[in-house]
Amino acid sequence: MPGRRSFKTDESFYRPKLRPSGHDISRRFADNNGGAIPSNLLQIPNTESNSPYQRHCASVGVKPHPARFPEKLPTFFIEFLTDSGDTVLDIFAGSNTTGSAAEKLDRRWLAFEKDRTYLAASAFRFVDELPPEELAALWDRLHSDDLPVEVNRAQRELVLIEKPTAYATKLKRR
Ligand SMILES: C[S@@+](CC[C@H](N)C(=O)[O-])C[C@H]1O[C@@H](n2cnc3c(N)ncnc32)[C@H](O)[C@@H]1O
Repeated sequence: MPGRRSFKTDESFYRPKLRPSGHDISRRFADNNGGAIPSNLLQIPNTESNSPYQRHCASVGVKPHPARFPEKLPTFFIEFLTDSGDTVLDIFAGSNTTGSAAEKLDRRWLAFEKDRTYLAASAFRFVDELPPEELAALWDRLHSDDLPVEVNRAQRELVLIEKPTAYATKLKRR
C-alpha cells in the first residue's frame, strides 16, 4: 500500500539506538519515503515473551539473545523449502530459533554459533520445565569447559560441541 507507514515512531514502540550487531538505527529509519510495502514481504510480529527459553534464561540469570527471530520466520522457510527428515543448517544460530522451528517440523538440524554463552543458552529451547536447582546445575554443565554436553530431556538428543577437535575426533573414529 503506497504511503502506508511501516511502523510507529513513538518512543514506546522503537527507540533509535546502536543495535548489538553494530548497526546504527537512527530516527530516519522510520521516515516515510512514500514507498510501497511489497506484497511478498513477510510481516511477523516479534512478540515472544514467555517461552521456555526466556523463562529458563531468567531462572539462571543469563541475558536472552538480543536479536532473536520470531519463530514463524524460519518456520515459513523450512515448510516452504524442505521436507520432513531433511536437515536444516543455521550458521549464525544465535539462540537457535531455526533449530527449534526445525525440530517442531520433524526436520533434523545443525546450529553453529561463535558466542559460547548464546550457544549454551540455546539449549534451553529443548529443555522441559525443571526445578530451578536442576536448571542451575544444567546451566553449569552447559557453561563448563567439559564439552561436549548431552541434553537428553528433549525428544532427541542435543549435543553441544565447542572444540573443533572434539568433532574431528568423532569423525575419525567412524
Ligand atoms: C542475528 S543473530 C542470529 C539470531 C538468531 N536467528 C536467533 O533467532 O536467535 C546472528 C548471530 O551470528 C553469530 N555470528 C556472527 N559471526 C559468526 C560466525 N563467524 N560464526 C558463527 N556465528 C557467528 C553472532 O554471534 C549472532 O549470535
